[in-house]
Amino acid sequence: MKFLMCDPKFYDVFYSINPWMKIENKPSNSLAVEQWNKLVELLRSLGATVEVMEGKSYLPDIVFTANAALMIGNTAYLANFTHPERRPEKELYTVWFNLNYYETTEVVDFFEGAGDALFDYNRHLFAGYGFRSSKGGLLYYMNFCSQMGSIPVHYVQLVDPYFYHLDTCFCPLKDGFALAYPPAFSEESFATIKKYMDVIEVPEQDAKRFACNAVCLGNKVVIPSGCPETYERLSQFRYEVYDTDVSEFIKAGGACKCLTLRLDEFA
Ligand code: ARG
Repeated sequence: MKFLMCDPKFYDVFYSINPWMKIENKPSNSLAVEQWNKLVELLRSLGATVEVMEGKSYLPDIVFTANAALMIGNTAYLANFTHPERRPEKELYTVWFNLNYYETTEVVDFFEGAGDALFDYNRHLFAGYGFRSSKGGLLYYMNFCSQMGSIPVHYVQLVDPYFYHLDTCFCPLKDGFALAYPPAFSEESFATIKKYMDVIEVPEQDAKRFACNAVCLGNKVVIPSGCPETYERLSQFRYEVYDTDVSEFIKAGGACKCLTLRLDEFA
C-alpha cells in the first residue's frame, strides 16, 4: 500500500474555512511535525510505503493530501477546491503527480478528491456532497465510471458543517463494514450507506475527535487517539486497531486519513 503525504514544515492555521479552524487557536508546528512523523513511522511499520512531497509556506492546508485527487488506477482526478485559500495547492499536486508518472485529469465543478470520494471493499464509490464537492462535479465521475464499465456510485449528502468532508464521518473498512457518524448525513443518505455496508456507529464524542478519519491497511485500522469507544468497537469486530495523537491537525479540521492519499487503492 502506497500513500502520499506532505511535509508539515509550513502547517499552520491562519485562515478559517471550516468550523474547527480558529485563528486564535493555532496549532504548535513543532508538535504537529512530531505527530506527523509518528504517523509516518506507524504507517511504515504496518507495511505501507509513504511518499512525501514538499509543502509551501503560503499553503498551510496542503498537508491534507487526501484532498489532492481521487486516484483510479494510474490517474489522479484532480480536486477543484471550493475555497480560494486552497486553490493554489492544485498546481503543486499536479507537478508531483506528473513527476511521479501519474496521469492527471481535470474534473468539472467543485470536487475535493479522496476527502469526499471513498471506495468500499466492493469497489463501489461513495461520493459525498453538500459542503466541498458539488453533485455536478461528482456527476462527472458517474459518467466516467459508467464509461469505465462497472463502478457503481452512491451519492451521500452531508448536512453538518463540522463534518464537511465525507472522510470526517465515514470510513469503509475491510469486509463490508464501515465506521460512520449517522447525524452527519441526511436520513436518506444514511439509509443508502446502511443498504450497502454493515455500519459500526461512532458516538458523538469520538466523532468529534475524528474517529471516522481512519487509515485502513487491510485488517489494520489507524485512528486518532482519544476515541475509546471506537477503539473498543473495532476491536470487537476483530480489527487490529492502532491509535496516534493528531491533536494539532484537528485544529484545522483534519486527522489521520486527511493527512494521507492512498495512491494504489484502485490500481
Ligand atoms: N483545513 C482543511 C480544509 O478545511 C482540512 C482538510 C481536511 N481534509 C479532509 N480530507 N477531511 O480544507
